[in-house]
Amino acid sequence: MDAGAVAMDSEDGKSYSSRKEMWLQEAGEDAETSRDPDLNKKDEWYQNGIKYWTGVEATVDGVLGGYGNVSSWDVMESDRFLLDVLSECMPDYVRGNRHLVALDCGAGVGRVTKQLLLRHFHEVDLVEPVQHFLETARRDLKSHILESNVIQDHSLHRVVNFFATPLQNFTPEPNRYDVIWVQWCIGHLTDQDFVTFFLRAKVGLKPDGLFVLKENVSKCDFLLDKADSSVSRSDAYFRDLMKQTGLHLQKTRAQQRFPRELLGVRMYALTQSPVPVVPLSNRTRSKKLSNQPRTIY
Ligand SMILES: C[S@@+](CC[C@H](N)C(=O)[O-])C[C@H]1O[C@@H](n2cnc3c(N)ncnc32)[C@H](O)[C@@H]1O
Repeated sequence: MDAGAVAMDSEDGKSYSSRKEMWLQEAGEDAETSRDPDLNKKDEWYQNGIKYWTGVEATVDGVLGGYGNVSSWDVMESDRFLLDVLSECMPDYVRGNRHLVALDCGAGVGRVTKQLLLRHFHEVDLVEPVQHFLETARRDLKSHILESNVIQDHSLHRVVNFFATPLQNFTPEPNRYDVIWVQWCIGHLTDQDFVTFFLRAKVGLKPDGLFVLKENVSKCDFLLDKADSSVSRSDAYFRDLMKQTGLHLQKTRAQQRFPRELLGVRMYALTQSPVPVVPLSNRTRSKKLSNQPRTIY
């Protein structure tokens, strides 16, 4: 499983014999022991990631590494995937009588919230560790922010909370979310923190709530980018980690329309237990639904 490990963009062009070796050297993490041998190294790993993003302009182009032009393709295919997953997993979503809440993880400047999540969810929260990104999101989403003195109107779609914290330290409010959306940020988390994040965040899901993970997938086992302390994992690597979270991989789909020079991107819908798939012909689809329509590192 560890075959094909390579380092990218490291000053020395180093390659690693295994994931274990890479994590131990780069972030002082030993996946097989519960205690990390070098906590300072792990701190350095995370601080370097934040330092990198702190130096990036707070725009869509900035958070997409100069590829702001792929945002509309990205959102279009996320939209289709989300609709398919919601109609498969939440029948009351299809009937339109459910108050939906989402969490946008590693939200950057609020691109996914603004262009995708606010169109489907009545309440959206953002979690993002880089201050100037979160401030830009707050400014840009101002007209969608829920004022506490406004009586809640379920026909409105609102941003509610802005959490300024990294995912490895974040624990959501129990039972709040229908969907936790994790896009282009989990590569910053080490393997242990990836798994413990999903284990903690599960508590934040409603009983039939689910995660959507949308990430770059590398052809080799992983690609390390030392510039921003991130790894692009392979599909097999993601599946190994997902297994450790105890979540069920309900649906997965590759992003189709992206420039060829970019890494492939894949969407994964992870449920708390398997949801039987009802053939489309047996599902009641509302008129509204049928009409709706990296490099990043
Ligand atoms: C490539 S940008 C993607 C932003 C957003 N998800 C999007 O698709 O527009 C990566 C984001 O991950 C954030 N990030 C970096 N380290 C993180 C961490 N440890 N936890 C959560 N987010 C992190 C960065 O600040 C940045 O906003």
